[in-house]
Amino acid sequence: MKKRLLSGIKPSGTMHLGNYFGAIKQFVDMQNDYDSFVFIADLHSITTVHNKDELSKNIINIALDYLACGLDPEKVCLFKQSDVAEVTELTWYFNCLTTVPYLERATAYKDAKAKGKEVNVGVFDYPILMAADILIYDSEVVPVGQDQKQHVEYARDTAQKFNSTFGETFKIPEALIMKEVAVVPGTDGKKMSKSYKNTIPLFGTDEEIKKAVMKIVTDSKGTDEPKDPETCNIFKLHKLFLNKEELATLSDRYTKGGMSYKESKEMLLSEILDLIKPMREKRENYSEDLDNVRAILKNGANKAKVIALGKMNIIRNNVGVKI
Ligand code: ADP
Ligand code: TRP
Repeated sequence: MKKRLLSGIKPSGTMHLGNYFGAIKQFVDMQNDYDSFVFIADLHSITTVHNKDELSKNIINIALDYLACGLDPEKVCLFKQSDVAEVTELTWYFNCLTTVPYLERATAYKDAKAKGKEVNVGVFDYPILMAADILIYDSEVVPVGQDQKQHVEYARDTAQKFNSTFGETFKIPEALIMKEVAVVPGTDGKKMSKSYKNTIPLFGTDEEIKKAVMKIVTDSKGTDEPKDPETCNIFKLHKLFLNKEELATLSDRYTKGGMSYKESKEMLLSEILDLIKPMREKRENYSEDLDNVRAILKNGANKAKVIALGKMNIIRNNVGVKI
């Protein structure tokens, strides 16, 4: 029996290299070995996106991104979170077991508060909706980037709390974090993130990608000077594309001197474009028939819904609302 894998991404903007290496690529690499469920976390994105057209455009875009990156709807149950509204019911049951101080410890909430933002209840409750996503499908493995690790821990705690309150109901899921790509750095060396405006877009035009790559921050060493690959932001990104031998050769060229940062950036640019080219073609094909994309999501939702309803039956019974 294959283990059940589940993960989701919020449709809240343009997909970047960090999302690809930190999340989607893992789903693609694992789709043969797991009973995979991958969804579009549209309910989560409403914590920040309050514009109808923007949200629906983002949803379609992320579906295209998933498919273009190689998720195979024959192998993966691909669906939209809001199509299985049972997760919101489960969120409520979990809310009634969750204390305020416990949610106040969530990093994402603390960050939002520290920035002086007005925090909506959705942001505060974000980890609990995510726990419901994970637990309703009896997910065993949850591949995510390092930044989502705490959320998976919230899901584990919540499952344990529910089990000890209402009786054994949920499996305890495991986060799966790939070490080498745990944090993809952005053009300024900090974690690549939409919020830091330091991203390299996955499906940008050649020009947009080039502009982002040329923006990568380096020190001011001239062409002839020896350079330290380990502290170089460009080199850190090469690591995502090159194999061991190629990296060793490049590392040698860095330490010997004679290679400019500009040359290293140009190499990186062509590595990125080589990766993207076939994916871009696939994306164009899918975008010519959006009804097909909608049908893929609907199919996935139907399958996910059957599992969620079966689980809710047990949950409602254990909570006591079923009489
Ligand atoms: P962003 O930080 O740009 O808003 P999201 O929070 O929407 O990105 O992340 C979507 C998925 O991509 C998550 O699973 C997250 O862990 C992963 N991810 C995002 N940025 C990175 C990164 N720089 N390195 C590794 N994984 C990342
Ligand atoms: N919070 C995740 C993110 O920001 C998205 C997400 C929602 C998710 N529910 C999930 C990821 C369940 C894994 C499992 O990317």
